[in-house]
Amino acid sequence: MPVSQTSPAALANINGVLMPLAEATVPALDRGFLFGDAVYEVLRVYQGKPWLLKEHLNRLAYSLNAVRIQGVGLERLQERMRATITAGPFGEATVYIQITRGSAPRSHKFPISSTPLEFIYVDEFHDPYQQARRHGAAVLTQPDLRWDRCDIKSTNLLGNVLAMQAASEAGCLEALLYLPDGTLTEGTHTSLFGVRQGTVLTSPRSNAILPGITRSLILRLAAGAGVPVREEVLKRGELDEASELFLTGTTSEILPVIAVDGRPMGDGRPGPVTRRLQQAYQEAVAEFVAEGA
Ligand SMILES: Cc1ncc(COP(=O)(O)O)c(C=O)c1O
Repeated sequence: MPVSQTSPAALANINGVLMPLAEATVPALDRGFLFGDAVYEVLRVYQGKPWLLKEHLNRLAYSLNAVRIQGVGLERLQERMRATITAGPFGEATVYIQITRGSAPRSHKFPISSTPLEFIYVDEFHDPYQQARRHGAAVLTQPDLRWDRCDIKSTNLLGNVLAMQAASEAGCLEALLYLPDGTLTEGTHTSLFGVRQGTVLTSPRSNAILPGITRSLILRLAAGAGVPVREEVLKRGELDEASELFLTGTTSEILPVIAVDGRPMGDGRPGPVTRRLQQAYQEAVAEFVAEGA
C-alpha cells in the first residue's frame, strides 16, 4: 500500500466516539480547518504500546498552553488513545492526535465559547524508512520559510510542506531547512544532528525548532553510550567539516544522511556514530517492549 494512504483498518476517535477513519468527518467551520488553529502529536506504537507517551503528552500540553486552547483533559485523551489502540487491535502502529479550538462562526479572534475538537486516529505502521535507515538518505537544503514559533507543534505546516515537496521532486527523502545566516534548523519532519570530530551536534532548543521527542532521547542515548554531545547549530556552509549527518523522528527513528544537495556527506556512507546510536535506539525499544504493559 502506498505510504500516503491509510489502511482500511485505521480507526478514528472524535471527541470519544470511535469509528473507521474513512467515516470520520469534521465540521466545515472548525477553526483547525479555517485557520490552522490547532496543535497535534504523532506517536509510534511498538507491539501495542505507545512509545515515549509521557513525553508526547507533555509536549502536547506545552503546545495547547502556548496557543491557549483550554479544557483538554490529557488523561481522558490518553484513555481514548488506549481504547482506540485496543479496538484495532494495533501492534505496530502510529497515533495521530489533533486538538483544534473547535467550531465557531469565522472570525480571527478566539470565539467566546467553543469546545475543542479532539481527534485521534490510529493506523497500522508499514515502515517506509527501512531502506533509508540501513543505507542512508539524500536530502535537499531549502530556505526555512516558517514562522517564529516552530517550538509549538501546530498544524500550520505550509512551509514544511513546500520544502518537503521540493525535496521529493529532487529525489530526496527530506529537506534541511536553513535561515538567512545559513543556520540549519531542522528537517521538515525530523530533527537534525551532525558529528564533528567525534562530537554529536544539534541545534539548541529555541523557537526555531520543534523540541523533538526523539531528539531528547538521542541526547540521553549518546550520553549513555559515552558519545560527547554539544547543543550547537550546524551551518549550511560548514557541512564539509562534519563527518556524519543524521535525522531523527518518531517514525523515522534515526536516518543516516549520505548526500546533501547532490554532494556526498562524509564518505557517502552511514557513519560509525550514527550506527552506534541506531543500535542504542533499537536496544531502548526492545527494552521498552519487554517491560510488559
Ligand atoms: C519540524 C519537526 N521537527 C522535528 C520533528 C521530530 O520530532 P519527534 O522526534 O518528536 O517526532 C518533527 C516531527 O514530526 C517535526 O515536524
